Amino acid sequence: MPDALASDPLIGRLREVGCVFAEEEAAEIRRVVGDDEQRADAVVAARGAGIPLEHALGVALFAGVEIEVGPGVFVPRARAEVLVDAAVAARPDARVVVDLGTGSGAIAAALATRLPRAAVYGVDLDPHALAYAVRNAARHHFTVHEGDWWDALPHELRGRVDLAVAYLPHVPTARLADIPGDYRAHEPDLSVAGGPDGLDPLRHVLADLDEWLTPDGVLVTLVAEEQLETARALSEGRRLTLVVG
Ligand SMILES: C[S@@+](CC[C@H](N)C(=O)[O-])C[C@H]1O[C@@H](n2cnc3c(N)ncnc32)[C@H](O)[C@@H]1O
Repeated sequence: MPDALASDPLIGRLREVGCVFAEEEAAEIRRVVGDDEQRADAVVAARGAGIPLEHALGVALFAGVEIEVGPGVFVPRARAEVLVDAAVAARPDARVVVDLGTGSGAIAAALATRLPRAAVYGVDLDPHALAYAVRNAARHHFTVHEGDWWDALPHELRGRVDLAVAYLPHVPTARLADIPGDYRAHEPDLSVAGGPDGLDPLRHVLADLDEWLTPDGVLVTLVAEEQLETARALSEGRRLTLVVG
């Protein structure tokens, strides 16, 4: 960390309100607000009230792309960046790309940036998240569709999807309470709750997979280590890349 940042009094103020990763948060606040101390103070106060940093700043950095986010919207997680890498590695030639459960559009934006020749479509059921996705889509060149998984897509894409990426809600019901409090209190259940074993959304998406993918299309999704065995069994014989995160 540069000396100017390491000695930034903002770090101390963040520590005082209970931020464990005060140095990292201070660096991100400075990146966004610069030397606007009034804005920095407002962010520190929001952090003290348990509001996620990204919601307080109104933006998140995901896979090198800046995404607008806000209250009530799933915060893009750095751990999902591996999904973007795995997807691009699986189908660098993809022309039709879908982000299932796009939320604010973070993954769609990263894919549109990394695969500039592809048409990228983001879908989500949550209109509040989609309001952010629409703004991010305008900035990062993808389109947004509201609805239930594949049903949200334009019908003419049936059988034409080269690459689908899905960071699905996958937290088992009994583990919802383990989500860090700042996030749990400020993100909707719809974005995290995956049913008894966390894999209900994956079951739904797999049910219609073959109708939407091209013959050599692939779905790339993320599961927890303890879900891997069940997810492998569910997806046996399917064109699926499972990423553990
Ligand atoms: C884990 S979040 C991922 C959000 C986003 N891809 C990201 O990385 O920030 C899962 C997303 O799936 C969406 N979702 C849940 N059920 C859905 C459904 N039946 N159809 C479409 N999207 C759904 C949620 O609204 C949420 O935005």
